[in-house]
Amino acid sequence: MKHLKWGLVAAGRIAGRFATGLATIKDQATCLAVAARDLSKAQKFAEEHKVARAYGSYDELLADKDVDAVYISTPNSLHAEWSIKAAKAGKHILCEKPVTSNAPELQKVLRVVKKCDVFFMEAFMYRCHPQWKKLLEVIKAGTIGEVRIVQSAFAFNMGLQLENIRLSNPLAGGGLMDVGCYCVSFCRLVAGEEPVSCHAVAHIGKQSRVDEYATGVLQFPSGVVATFACGTQCGTPSAANVYGSKGSIVVTNPWFPSDENAKLIVSAEGKTETIEVKYGRDLYANEALTVAENLRRRQARPTAMTWADSLGQMKTLDALRKSMGLKFDCER
Ligand SMILES: NC(=O)c1ccc[n+]([C@@H]2O[C@H](COP(=O)([O-])OP(=O)(O)OC[C@H]3O[C@@H](n4cnc5c(N)ncnc54)[C@H](OP(=O)(O)O)[C@@H]3O)[C@@H](O)[C@H]2O)c1
Repeated sequence: MKHLKWGLVAAGRIAGRFATGLATIKDQATCLAVAARDLSKAQKFAEEHKVARAYGSYDELLADKDVDAVYISTPNSLHAEWSIKAAKAGKHILCEKPVTSNAPELQKVLRVVKKCDVFFMEAFMYRCHPQWKKLLEVIKAGTIGEVRIVQSAFAFNMGLQLENIRLSNPLAGGGLMDVGCYCVSFCRLVAGEEPVSCHAVAHIGKQSRVDEYATGVLQFPSGVVATFACGTQCGTPSAANVYGSKGSIVVTNPWFPSDENAKLIVSAEGKTETIEVKYGRDLYANEALTVAENLRRRQARPTAMTWADSLGQMKTLDALRKSMGLKFDCER
């Protein structure tokens, strides 16, 4: 496995979390550089996270020949632009979710990534955790019978902070893009196919012009039906449940699994079993290692995000946004 030297494109909240993850695997990866639109912000971040190089523009970081791979954590609307620029600069790419604003943008990115022959993965850190492989094994073993219903939720109440990227239409924000995308990717993972019908209803904020809370339903060719709830203006416990013809599986901590709390509760035919999935890595460090482990293939293996998975995901998000009547400014 190659020891990758990482560069961070943007120095926001999640970039800090990613840098903290990288710091736990110093023998396997290095956080070499960070870029922000403002040099002093990049320098402050570099000092805090002990990053050797700080740049006052993303372009300068892409020009750094020592940077092997970039972690892009700009607002959603800028993911495509910086993925394309990074690919053209010959950098391997881990780009935050949702990987672009919409499917056509992702198709453009994939064309460039293929041409430039670099690694590219949507940063759904939760998918890199082994509990999903275990979940699919339990389903395949037939313990709960045929999968019939998939149910999930990811929502929180951040208040109406209109300056936040999550409440910005021009930056391709909204609850579906921010957290509903986890639910959608979970439903698609369990169904193992793309939905034939996607509907969502949402409260679109008058000021934010994005979905502040929403609920959706998906129907899959095999007969699996899925429902989800998401939002940035309503609190709800996280949920990821699979109901089959003979039983059910509850994923106790779907979106932020850790060694202490990654459990599958499998109930079938009057018996309940709890399966703990331990692996001893930081969630974000694991994501960086997933890149290094699959570098030569240029994309991840399932259950992490493959290119096809990301494309199916973006098409589903597009269909859900269409049904809730939400267009981003960049799509007008
Ligand atoms: N996987 C996860 O666990 C997870 C969690 C949270 C968020 N995310 C994703 O990560 C991305 C960033 O989220 P975040 O929570 O880190 O947001 P954030 O704290 O607001 O950071 C966003 C960064 O984007 C940069 N940026 C560039 N152009 C901008 C513009 N026009 N307006 C505002 N910011 C701009 C800013 O970087 P500089 O000022 O530093 O240049 C800012 O630091 C989003 O795509 C989000 O979906 C993923």
